Amino acid sequence: MAFTIKVNGKTHSVDVDGDTPMLWVLRDVLGMTGTKFGCGMALCGACTVHLDGNPVRSCITTIDSVGESAITTIEAIGTTTAGAKIQKAWLDREVPQCGYCQSGQIMSASALLASNPHPTDSDIDDAMSGNICRCGTYVRIREAIKQAAQSSGQGD
Ligand code: FES
Ligand code: FES
Repeated sequence: MAFTIKVNGKTHSVDVDGDTPMLWVLRDVLGMTGTKFGCGMALCGACTVHLDGNPVRSCITTIDSVGESAITTIEAIGTTTAGAKIQKAWLDREVPQCGYCQSGQIMSASALLASNPHPTDSDIDDAMSGNICRCGTYVRIREAIKQAAQSSGQGD
């Protein structure tokens, strides 16, 4: 069945079963491999994308549930104000280790900063608790979010 979806500002028509996870559509149909597969069960956060700005796990989001909502992936998050700040802070703090979890981390952190420009430690914990990092980059992730938050309000 054909579905029309909006990804990073572009419209795509994809011919897949309705219960196909958005993650497979992004990676296998559209060739956008920045979004990662980790667990496939909404447990790790590696597959996080935004649906109308809200972080969702694309491994359990079926394509027939997306409708008119705008999908944003790691490939375009740098075009958003919060995403650009998060990506700069990630580079400044040299957050990634192996990197596998990091696109999901950045998507969750960007959604947090967009909705809450000055998050407390507990806000950060709440927003990021579903994103697992096997390399244990959590301390740098927190520092980077705080750095990005400090730059919020300067030019927003
Ligand atoms: S792959 Fe989706 S949460 Fe792990
Ligand atoms: S940087 Fe390796 S899993 Fe997070």
